[in-house]
Amino acid sequence: MELPFAEPYKIKVVEPIYRSTRQEREAWIAEAHYNLFNLRSDQVYIDLLTDSGTGALSQMQWSEIMLGDESYAGSLSYHKLKDTIMKLLGMPYFLPAHQGRAAENVLFSAMLKAGDIVPGNSHFDTTKGHIEYRRAIAVDCTIDEAADTSLFHPFKGNIDVGKLEAVFQQYPKEKIPLCIITITNNTAGGQPVSMENIRKASEVCRKYGVPMFLDAARFAENAYFIKTREKGYQDKSIREIVLEMFSYADGATMSSKKDAIVNIGGFMACRDKSLYQKASVFNIMYEGFITYGGLAGRDLGALAQGLMEGTELDFLESRIGQVALLGQMLHDYGIPMQQPTGGHAVFIDASKFLPQVPREQFRAQTLAVELYLEGGVRGVEIGTILADRDPITRENRYPALELLRLAVPRRAYTNNHIAYVAACLKNIFDRRNEISKGLVIVEEAPIMRHFTVELKKA
Ligand code: F0G
Repeated sequence: MELPFAEPYKIKVVEPIYRSTRQEREAWIAEAHYNLFNLRSDQVYIDLLTDSGTGALSQMQWSEIMLGDESYAGSLSYHKLKDTIMKLLGMPYFLPAHQGRAAENVLFSAMLKAGDIVPGNSHFDTTKGHIEYRRAIAVDCTIDEAADTSLFHPFKGNIDVGKLEAVFQQYPKEKIPLCIITITNNTAGGQPVSMENIRKASEVCRKYGVPMFLDAARFAENAYFIKTREKGYQDKSIREIVLEMFSYADGATMSSKKDAIVNIGGFMACRDKSLYQKASVFNIMYEGFITYGGLAGRDLGALAQGLMEGTELDFLESRIGQVALLGQMLHDYGIPMQQPTGGHAVFIDASKFLPQVPREQFRAQTLAVELYLEGGVRGVEIGTILADRDPITRENRYPALELLRLAVPRRAYTNNHIAYVAACLKNIFDRRNEISKGLVIVEEAPIMRHFTVELKKA
C-alpha cells in the first residue's frame, strides 16, 4: 500500500489547553461583548483566529534565538537575514520592521500621498487601512470568480489584468505610486495567484511605469500552489518558484508571522536604492535603526531560519495538507465554503450557512459566536464588520462574501484537533434552522472596527 504523508517533525514541547464547558463559554462570550478578540486565550480550546505569529518554532529557530546578536547596529543576526532575503527572494535592499503592517507604514510613508490610487487583488485590511488613512484609495481588481465560493478555480486569488489596465487608463501615472499583489490572497480565502498572472500583471505595470510590489505574507504557500497546480512548474523546486515570483516585482512587504513561522517580525524589500534610502528615514522614525527595525537580534535570526524552513516542500505539504483535511471533512458534511480550500485557512460561506439571518445582523460573526459556544473554537469574521464603513458615506460596506475564517497555525495542532473542529461545525450545521437572529453593534471604532467592536444579540 502507498504510505500516507506524515509530518516531517515530531513534538518536543507541549502546551496544555483548557477544555471548557458550554456554560462557561456562554458567560465568557457575553462578557466579551460577542467579540472573539475580547476573549482571554485560556477561554479558547482551539484557536483558529489567525495563523499569524501562532506557529510552533523549530529547535533550529530556538538555537537562532540563543545566537541572537543584540548589537544596536550591524548585528550578525541582521546580516544573516539580509543574506537570506537576497538568496531566497533576490531583493538587494531590505528594512526589518516589527510586523507586516509596520513594513506597510514605512513603505507607504515613502511612496503614498493623499488622492493616490493603489490597485491590487483584495488588499488586506491593514494594507487598506494604511492606504485610506493617507486619504488614498485602494482599488480591488481581483477576478470575479473569487466571489463565487462554489466555483472551482485553481488561482482564485488572481488579479484581473483587464481591470488593472482600466485603472491605469483612468488615472494619470503620477497618481498611481504602486500596485500591490497579495500572495496568497488572504481576503479572497487564502487563494493563490498564478505565476502567469503575476507575470502578466508585472508586464502591465511596466507598460504604464507603475512599480509592482508583493504583499508576501504567504509567499511560500503561494509557491506550493504554483508547483502543484500550474502547468510547467511541477519539476521546479519551491525556492526556484519563489525566486521567479519575486523576479517580476520591484519590491515587497512581508508579515513574517505567517510563512516565516515566527511569533513577531516583518520587513520591506526592494530593488531601488533611492526608495530604500527614503524608506530608511521612516524606518528609523517608526521602527528603529535600519539593522533591527523594532525587533531584537534574536527575532531576526529566528526569522532568517524560518524563511528557509517555510520554503521546504515537506513542510508545505504537511501544512497545506492539514488545511485541506479540514476542508475535506467540512465538505463531506455538506458545509458551504470557499472552494478549493486556501493555503492557511478554510473560509466558510456564512451567507449560505445562515441565509435566514439578516445581512445587517452579521451572519459570519453570528456563526463565529456559535462555533465558540459549541466547542470553544475561535475563528474570525471576514465579512461586513471587517469591511468597515464606507469612508465617505459612513454606511456599512457589504462585501461580496460573508466568511468565517478558520486559520490553522503552523505546526501547532494535530489532526485530532482538526477533526474536533469539523465535528463542532457539523453540529451547528445540523441545527442551523434554529438560528434565526444574529448580532447588532453597540460600540465601534471609526476604522478597523472588528478588533474592538462590541455587539449584543439581536
Ligand atoms: N498582509 C496580509 C496578506 C496579511 O494577512 C496580514 C496579516 C498583513 C499583511 C499584516 O501583517 O499582522 O504582521 O501586521 N494578517 C493576519 C491575519 C493578522 O490574521 O490574517 P501583520
